[in-house]
Amino acid sequence: MSNYHIKNLEEYFQVYNKSVREPETFWEEIAEEHFLWRKKWDKVLSWDFKKPEVKWFENAKLNITENCLDRHLATRKDKTAIIFEPNDPNEKSEHITYGQLHERVCKMANVLAENGIKKGDRVCIYLPMIPELAISVLACARIGAIHSVVFAGFSSTALATRVNDSDCKMVITSDGSYRGKKQIDLKGIVDTALEECPGVETVLTVKRTGAEINMKDGRDKWLAPLLEQASATNIAQEMDAEDPLFILYTSGSTGKPKGMVHSSGGYMVFAAYTFKNIFQYQEDDIYWCTADIGWITGHSYIVYGPLLNGATTLMFEGVPTYPDAGRFWQVVEEHKVNQFYTAPTAIRALAKASVDFVNKYDLSSLKVLGTVGEPINEDAWDWYNINVGDGKCPIADTWWQTETGGIMISPIPFVTPTIPTFATLPFIGIQPALMDAEGNEIKGNGVQGRLCIKFPWPGIARTIWGDHARYRDTYFAAYQDKYFTGDGAKRDPVGYYRITGRVDDVIIVSGHNLGTAPIEDAINEHNDVAESAIVGFPHDIKGNALYGFVILNEERETEDNDQLRKEINQEITAQIGPIAKLDKIQFVPGLPKTRSGKIMRRILRKIAADDAKDLGDISTLLNPEVVQEIMDDAL
Ligand code: PRX
Repeated sequence: MSNYHIKNLEEYFQVYNKSVREPETFWEEIAEEHFLWRKKWDKVLSWDFKKPEVKWFENAKLNITENCLDRHLATRKDKTAIIFEPNDPNEKSEHITYGQLHERVCKMANVLAENGIKKGDRVCIYLPMIPELAISVLACARIGAIHSVVFAGFSSTALATRVNDSDCKMVITSDGSYRGKKQIDLKGIVDTALEECPGVETVLTVKRTGAEINMKDGRDKWLAPLLEQASATNIAQEMDAEDPLFILYTSGSTGKPKGMVHSSGGYMVFAAYTFKNIFQYQEDDIYWCTADIGWITGHSYIVYGPLLNGATTLMFEGVPTYPDAGRFWQVVEEHKVNQFYTAPTAIRALAKASVDFVNKYDLSSLKVLGTVGEPINEDAWDWYNINVGDGKCPIADTWWQTETGGIMISPIPFVTPTIPTFATLPFIGIQPALMDAEGNEIKGNGVQGRLCIKFPWPGIARTIWGDHARYRDTYFAAYQDKYFTGDGAKRDPVGYYRITGRVDDVIIVSGHNLGTAPIEDAINEHNDVAESAIVGFPHDIKGNALYGFVILNEERETEDNDQLRKEINQEITAQIGPIAKLDKIQFVPGLPKTRSGKIMRRILRKIAADDAKDLGDISTLLNPEVVQEIMDDAL
C-alpha cells in the first residue's frame, strides 16, 4: 500500500484542499518536480472565462517529447515503452523499448521535416492502431507540428471535412487496416477524401496489410524507405507552453465538428499527473487502455500520460470479440496487464458472452480497472468487478471529455471507496459546480443540476480551431464565469458525483460522441427525404442507439421502405461512418415543432424509448396532432 501516490482519503482531501486554496502554487510545484523545461514560466496562470482565455505556465519553453522520451534514456533506455498487440493473435506482439522508440520518433521527425513540415503546420494522421500511429503523433510534437488524429473508422467525407477545417498539409495513413476478420481499404478512403482537399501536398503511407493501392505521383510516398534513409538524431523543437500541441475533433450539437486545440505545457502536466494518480502506476506495471488513439482517451492515456511517466503502455490493434469474446482477457494474461482501462460498451458486449471466456484466463495480474466514455450501468459495473476484477480491483469510473484533456472526476484506486455508477469525487485541482435553470449554483449535497467547472485546470482546451467565438458560445456563455460541460449530474449526500448524461443534442453511442445535426444533414442528403430528426434510445450494449424520424418527399423515387432505410444508413456511413448508423428509422408525416420551428426532441425521445405515457404539455406545439400519429406507428 505504501507505494501508492495518494495513500488514503485523508491525504486526498489534504492535497485536494491545497489545490483549490492555492492552485497556482499547487500546479507550480507539480510542474517543477516532474518535468523537463528548457525555460521556466514567468507566471503560472492567467485566466478570464469571459473572454475566454486560459494560459498556464506563460512563457515557459519545452518539448513534450523530451519529457516522453529523451528524459527516460538515462534510466529506462531498455525498458519497454510500447507493447504492440496485433489484431491477429497468431501474429507476434512487438516490444518497443524507450531507446528504440526515441530512435523511431527521431527518424520520423526528420522525415516530416524533409517533407516540408514546419513548426505550426497541421498534419492529419489517419492510421490504425499500429506503432506508427503513436510514433507519428510524437514525431509531429517533436518538430512542433500540430497533429490532428482522425479515427480511422470515419468516412472519406468526415475525413475531408477535418483535413480542410485545419488546412492540413500532410496526411499519414496506411495501405489498409485490420478489424477482426475485416480488412479496410484506408488508402482508398484517403484518396477519395483528398479529391476535396487541395491543401494536402504529401501523403505518407505505412505498409500494413499489403493490399493493392494507388499511389499518386508527386503526392504519395511509402514511409518505410524514407525512414530507412533518415537520420536517427533529431533536436526537438522548442515550444512555448501555450503553443498548440494538437487538434482533436469532437461532435457538437450543431454543424461541423469542433477542432479542440490543446496546449503543450498545461496538457502535459495534466495528462501526466492524472495518469500517475488515477491508475496508481508503479514502475514495473504493464498498463493497457483499449481505446483508439483517434479519441482523446488514446491521446492522454495511451500515448502522452503513460510515456510522460516512463510507463509500459499496450497498444491493441484488434477488437474485443475477435477471434472470440475472450480476446481482451487472453491479452491480459499474455502480457500480465496490471491496469486495464476500457469502455462500458465493451464491458456490456463481453458480459453478453459466456463467462467462460473470462474464466479461461489468468487475470491475477490485474490491480486497477477503469472505465470511460459514458455512464456505466450497475449490471455492467458488477460484472466487471466480479468477473474481471475478482472483487479485488478498484474500478475507476472516470468522467471527462475531449475538451478537458484529462480525467476530471474519478475515484482514486485504493483510496476512494467506490459505489457502482458513481464517478465519485473531483480529481485534484478540479472544482465542479452544479447549476440550476436560472443560472444559480446549487450548493450542498443531495442535489442535481447541470455540471460546470468553476476554475481552470491545466488540461483545458484553449480554443476551437479557427472559431474562438464558438468556443465561447459553447462552453462559457451558458453560465457566468464557468465552463459548462453539457452534462447533467447528481451530487449525493456524501458529495459523490454521478453523471446522468448529456443535456444537449449530443448522443453518446458506444462511448462515441455523436451530434444530431451532422447525422440529420446526412439523412437529408437522400433525394427522397424532406426532413429528419434523430434521438437516442436506451440500448443494452451501446448504451444509446439512434432512432430516426424521417419525413419523406411526396414525390419519392422508391416506395420500398426497407430499401429506403438501407439507403439512408448508407448515406450516413458515407458522410460520417458506420458508428453513426440508425438502429430504427420511422417514416412520419411531420415532426413536433414549437412555434418558433424548433423540433421538440424531448417528445421524440420519449416515443423512441417507448415511454410516451406522460408527454407533458404539448399544447404549445405548432402541430400537436402529429404526436399521436407518430406514436401510433412507433417501432
Ligand atoms: O457525457 C459525458 C460522457 O462522454 C462525454 C465526453 O465525450 P468525449 O469528448 O468523446 O470524451 C470521451 C472520453 C473522455 C461527456 O460529456 N462521459 C465520459 N466519461 C463518462 C461519461 N459519462 C458518464 N460517466 C463517465 N465516466
